[in-house]
Amino acid sequence: MDLDEAIRQRRSIRKYRADEPIPREDIEAIIEAGCWAPSSTNIQPWCFIVVEDRETIASMAKAVYDRFQAISKEALGKGEKRLAAFCRFMRSYGSFFTDAPLVIVACSKPYENPVLKMPIATVIEKTRQYREAKVDVELIMVDTVKKSVTMAVQNMLLKAHSLGYGTCVMDTPIAIKDTLRELLHLEDELDLVMVIPMGVPESTEVKAPERLPVEEVMRFHQP
Ligand SMILES: Cc1cc2nc3c(=O)[nH]c(=O)nc-3n(C[C@H](O)[C@H](O)[C@H](O)COP(=O)(O)O)c2cc1C
Repeated sequence: MDLDEAIRQRRSIRKYRADEPIPREDIEAIIEAGCWAPSSTNIQPWCFIVVEDRETIASMAKAVYDRFQAISKEALGKGEKRLAAFCRFMRSYGSFFTDAPLVIVACSKPYENPVLKMPIATVIEKTRQYREAKVDVELIMVDTVKKSVTMAVQNMLLKAHSLGYGTCVMDTPIAIKDTLRELLHLEDELDLVMVIPMGVPESTEVKAPERLPVEEVMRFHQP
């Protein structure tokens, strides 16, 4: 598939053919596309949990639904109508994947760089002592693993699209990440970044949400 075509035609797909599983070789090709993404100092701080078990997928979706439903109900009781409406929206926005044949949970691993030869917390602490230089290493290091995982996820969305699968990258489920950690038996060192349901789309006739025009999002710096 042509690159421009893949970039423009990929859509967030939220309904999948439940009876069409994704073959193992396609799952591996999608993950491999993720692995070719750039990452800070090439640390590749990612781990992709492939969830195929229908019960687990349904439990993940239900957990998201129930938690937003609970807040929505409580908020309504307190007269907080706007908050209740927001939570009702998030309830579906975060749980539509209940029947997806596959969910990939993209996780980050702690920043570990053999070149550093000391823990990143120590680097942050030590550079802070060099106040004159005004270099804030923490600003980079705290987010750098998540930025890297996100780049990998975009590659995966495009690869899945090129193979004929629909995906939807999600972060709403991350709002209940402790529950998801338990459901997935995640090791302590892993942190959830994105949840990506995928499958053969029920329909490919999904309207593309409009994009801001280039003139609106681009400007040339005037020195
Ligand atoms: C960081 C991020 C988080 C998102 N979280 C969700 C989500 O929780 N639920 C959902 O249905 N879509 C989610 N989306 C998908 C967006 O709604 C979608 O990308 C956007 O509306 C543009 O549509 P398109 O992907 O079809 O171009 C998310 C997208 C991004 C980039």
